[in-house]
Amino acid sequence: MMKTEHDPDRRPSVFDPVKIGPVTLRNRTIRAAAFEGMGRDHLPTQELVDFHGALAKGGVGMTTVAYAAVEQRGLSFGHQLWMRPEVVAPLRALTDQVHAAGARASIQLAHCGNMAHAKVAGGRPQSASARFNLYGPTLPQAMDESDIARVVEAHADAVSIARDAGFDAVEVHAGHGYLLSQFASPWTNRRTDRYGGSVHNRIRFAREAIAAAKRAARDDIAVLVKTNLRDGFEGGMELDDAIVLARALEEEGADALVLTGGFVSRAPMYVMRGSMPTRVMADVMTDPMLSVGIALFGQMLVKPYAYESRYFRADALAVRAAVKMPLVYLGGVDSGAAIDEALSEGFEAVAMARALIREPDFVNKLARERGYRSLCDHCNYCAAQIYTKKASCHYLEPPTDRVRALLRKDMGR
Ligand SMILES: Cc1cc2nc3c(=O)[nH]c(=O)nc-3n(C[C@H](O)[C@H](O)[C@H](O)COP(=O)(O)O)c2cc1C
Repeated sequence: MMKTEHDPDRRPSVFDPVKIGPVTLRNRTIRAAAFEGMGRDHLPTQELVDFHGALAKGGVGMTTVAYAAVEQRGLSFGHQLWMRPEVVAPLRALTDQVHAAGARASIQLAHCGNMAHAKVAGGRPQSASARFNLYGPTLPQAMDESDIARVVEAHADAVSIARDAGFDAVEVHAGHGYLLSQFASPWTNRRTDRYGGSVHNRIRFAREAIAAAKRAARDDIAVLVKTNLRDGFEGGMELDDAIVLARALEEEGADALVLTGGFVSRAPMYVMRGSMPTRVMADVMTDPMLSVGIALFGQMLVKPYAYESRYFRADALAVRAAVKMPLVYLGGVDSGAAIDEALSEGFEAVAMARALIREPDFVNKLARERGYRSLCDHCNYCAAQIYTKKASCHYLEPPTDRVRALLRKDMGR
């Protein structure tokens, strides 16, 4: 299998093609997995198909459909995709539209673990250990070895479904405090068996899931993995463990890593820096308890992080120095200059979420004006919407005056 290995002497341009595993992207931009909230009954809608079609027409090298559960037990939301044979035909319409516009299509494979909701997941959430998750709120069941083997196989099955639907790549979600990250993190993993304790034991599940995904991919489609640089709170996974994980996944043959950080149940703003839209979020929540809880305590419980361009740069560079495999830089990519800098530092590609939510044609704008800067103001209104609605940008789909007033308060204006 041919692989794009990092060559420190070469300084690619954003519009140079790049090879990730068996797949060539027309340029070095990837739309990051960012939950669209456009599924219905766990199936893609025409709106989701057109949404990714628009990103492809807007110039991205590859677009990533977010957060599809590998099994029912891994579901958090009713409007989230679930990888079953029924998704193949509607997802084929999506990949056809993306390919017709010259881009590549990837799908993120996720398992929410202790973030799953019993109502949609069809049973009690499972995780590494039975530790209360305040954010759910859930008290998950600790997985036994047969549960782990089942979820490893579910990753392989989901890759086969993605291939049948015409995807060029999958991205296995091993970050942000979802199931594989709950095993990797010493905070959520208190096991004493071969899946707990040392970092090598904590990452065993991720290794097995990636090995199964690679087997099922048969080198027809690329397997990217989204991994944490740090969980973002004391007692969570830190950079030294992240480097051990990156090296292990390189050994397993992962085609690229997308480097990220944060833990939804403990440090949700670590990945999405900028303002914290708790009033808007409380407003969209349909569960009255959660809505009141977030409105009253959201600002107190969640640590804010100020936005800056390329905020994961220092940690991502440490991983760059530790592995040879292709790495995708993510986090605060907001301009032509930020992209050039990341590529000149040895990252093979960049991934963007909010810049492309604000301007789906950001890459075409960049082609016309190399110094172009994103218009996104990191208010995170888009992220506040996803719990019950779709991820819309308030500039593109203006909210009511009442919601606009809540957003202004969240932004401290
Ligand atoms: C609306 C929204 C939804 C997101 N949903 C996901 C998701 O489903 N899976 C994921 O791995 N990351 C998700 N993220 C995080 C993004 O992929 C990305 O890591 C983060 O926004 C930082 O990148 P950016 O500065 O380019 O926006 C989401 C972000 C936003 C704004």
